[in-house]
Amino acid sequence: MAKILVTGGLGFIGSHTVVELQNKGFEVVIIDDLSNSSIDVLNRITSITGIAPSFEKLDLKDKPKVQAFFKAHQDIQGVIHFAASKAVGESVDKPLQYYENNINTLIYILQELQKLKTANFIFSSSCTVYGQADELPITENAPVKKAESPYGNTKQIGEEIIQDTCKVTSHLKAIALRYFNPIGAHSSAKIGELPIGVPQNLVPFITQTAIGIREQLSVFGDDYPTHDGTCIRDYIHVVDLAKAHVIALQRLIEDKNTSNFETFNVGTGTGSTVLEVIQSFEKVSGQKLNYKIANRRAGDIISAYANTTKANNELGWKAELTLDDAMASAWKWEQEIRSK
Ligand code: UD1
Repeated sequence: MAKILVTGGLGFIGSHTVVELQNKGFEVVIIDDLSNSSIDVLNRITSITGIAPSFEKLDLKDKPKVQAFFKAHQDIQGVIHFAASKAVGESVDKPLQYYENNINTLIYILQELQKLKTANFIFSSSCTVYGQADELPITENAPVKKAESPYGNTKQIGEEIIQDTCKVTSHLKAIALRYFNPIGAHSSAKIGELPIGVPQNLVPFITQTAIGIREQLSVFGDDYPTHDGTCIRDYIHVVDLAKAHVIALQRLIEDKNTSNFETFNVGTGTGSTVLEVIQSFEKVSGQKLNYKIANRRAGDIISAYANTTKANNELGWKAELTLDDAMASAWKWEQEIRSK
């Protein structure tokens, strides 16, 4: 079975994708520098699938090590590249760290893929490339807006670097998946999101508040032009998102792609407000959440949700799990990690 490299394979989305790859019979090699993940996740993946993935602790900024890795693994048939820094606020404070970590590493990997005979590459992009889109739901043809942060810029630049490389490398095929808001956890509650410090994202903040680690959730603004005044996002279950990666990879391996650089939105197609996410949490957990309405957060867009027609029809992928499923799994995961 095809051997697939998953960079950042011990992270939130990476670990769920490794599970789905193994479920489909792929042989997985994980690279992770453990800068924002735990080695324990390797055992947790193994306990879900019954198969231990290969693992190498490697910092992708170390170019000679990247070269040596690919030399030793010339039979790799695909690369799913998750390894990257992702905190928006931190990227504003440390732009060069973000450009070095997210761009240099991408270049080193692409340079190695250029040396192979065939190469299939899946890139973690983000709906952040659209900014506040003029038309909703957002299609892949919506214009890419000037990035609000160095993090967002690394996703835009990353896509451009891959596209330019594909133009001059006929054996390289790539898909950029533009994620909307990934949430939730595996149904086994063995893997999930592990934010370090105070969570910046909504769902981990909700579950940490409910379990008693945070006192109260602040809802950032209730005076937006939406039906209840709070911002709208497209929350996608991480297991559905993981499956999108496997399907995208199979598309490339089976030569079903229509050009050698493609982009797909990965969302549910449905927008939910912050208050609707809270209501979903309260419903599935059976408990009230302590929250208050606070000021708007700088940099937040009003509304973003995906048009999923291209992903549904061309990629053959569709989100199957609901917001309630995602909130229930996130809650189960939070309870699991705090029970230890
Ligand atoms: C954020 C990033 C985005 C990144 C994505 C990854 C910003 C501006 N954007 O998206 O670039 O790709 O995470 O998942 O940081 N909210 C609250 N209270 C909270 C936290 C969030 O009300 O304590 C609200 C926000 O105002 C927003 C919604 O919840 O309306 C979702 O926020 P969040 O989970 O941070 O995701 P995004 O801002 O959409």
